[in-house]
Amino acid sequence: MKRGAIEIAGVGKEFGTATVLNDVDLAIAGGSFVTLLGPSGCGKTTLLRLIAGFLEPSRGAIAIDGAAMQGVPPRQRPIGMVFQNLALFPHLDVFDNVAYGLKVRGAPAGDIAGRVARFLGLVGLAGFERRRIGQLSGGQKQRVALARSLVLEPAILLLDEPLSALDLQLRRQLQVELKSIQRQLATTFVFVTHDQEEATLLSDIIVVMDGGRVQQVGTPGEIYSRPASPFVARFVGDINMLPGRIVSIDAASAEIEIGGSRLRLPLAAVLGNARAGARCDIACRPEAVTVQPSSGAGAGSDTDTNTGASFEARVAALHRLGPMLKISFDTVHGPLTGLMMANAPAAGLAENQPVQLSIAARSFTVFAQA
Ligand SMILES: Nc1ncnc2c1ncn2[C@@H]1O[C@H](COP(=O)(O)OP(=O)(O)OP(=O)(O)O)[C@@H](O)[C@H]1O
Ligand SMILES: [Mg+2]
Repeated sequence: MKRGAIEIAGVGKEFGTATVLNDVDLAIAGGSFVTLLGPSGCGKTTLLRLIAGFLEPSRGAIAIDGAAMQGVPPRQRPIGMVFQNLALFPHLDVFDNVAYGLKVRGAPAGDIAGRVARFLGLVGLAGFERRRIGQLSGGQKQRVALARSLVLEPAILLLDEPLSALDLQLRRQLQVELKSIQRQLATTFVFVTHDQEEATLLSDIIVVMDGGRVQQVGTPGEIYSRPASPFVARFVGDINMLPGRIVSIDAASAEIEIGGSRLRLPLAAVLGNARAGARCDIACRPEAVTVQPSSGAGAGSDTDTNTGASFEARVAALHRLGPMLKISFDTVHGPLTGLMMANAPAAGLAENQPVQLSIAARSFTVFAQA
């Protein structure tokens, strides 16, 4: 097994009377890139600080590579950290910033030079050794901070929104580099962001948090296409949420009423307390909506089918997003959003045009209401 595995079991944290983390159970495999994703205040930084040992849990336990961490001070944990606020030493140059931790640990000078050179190379800063911190751009400073942590070769690197202060283009570039560095070193990265696109691009596993609790753990694909709750569904990308009803349930499937359509869905797509008669929220991503010009009044009304739902609609608005076209539709059951390539044949739509929408049954996730 690769080193850098983290086991978090039943962890809770209180500050005074406020509970900021509750029942956190999380197993992070050594060598993986894991992202904590969630809205501001949900407890991401607190969880990182518990892993690092700057805070102790109020309940539960954290282990690293099988060793219990209770009472182990931060310095004795195999962990490095990179923060948005970098805390570089402004009076030292790039080399000395990166060499600092090695010197503190008493590494031999010859060894230090070789290791600093290797990690400055890794972050793309070879040749910047004698620059002062004040003479670097934001992105370069971020690379120094990364090299300074990585040079100590921790089993685990904790990164708390390290890219959020950078402009979009630089951020995209550093995301790609960060992922490549993580793959080369096979260090466990626990990365915090509230940007779902960033989480999707970087992560092997995404941990979605809200209100101090883990809401879902999964690959980016699982989180996107099988969100465990309406919160997760809305937090990771655009989603259509339509009201519906569970008509009947058998051992393998459920019959759902949505708009004027009835669909049979596998039970795996029905979450929550599924029972006949329950109201439900039915979710699908915008790219699952396909559109055809309406064939005329009366024709193409809402139909009953097991393969998909169909809706009469009207084009309310068209928005071009780079190569994509985002379309807002009005239906009698509520608004729907569609997303397609702007050069797709169906994209030649005009505002107010009547259209026929269809959504394949396999695109739906159903959340039964309590
Ligand atoms: N030392 C502290 N004392 C009291 N409350 C705290 C302390 N640290 C954090 N909190 C509270 O705990 C909650 C979680 O904070 P945390 O910093 O973990 O959130 P976060 O998910 O990192 O948010 P952000 O995305 O804004 O950084 C917040 O409500 C915060 O105000
Ligand atoms: Mg934070």
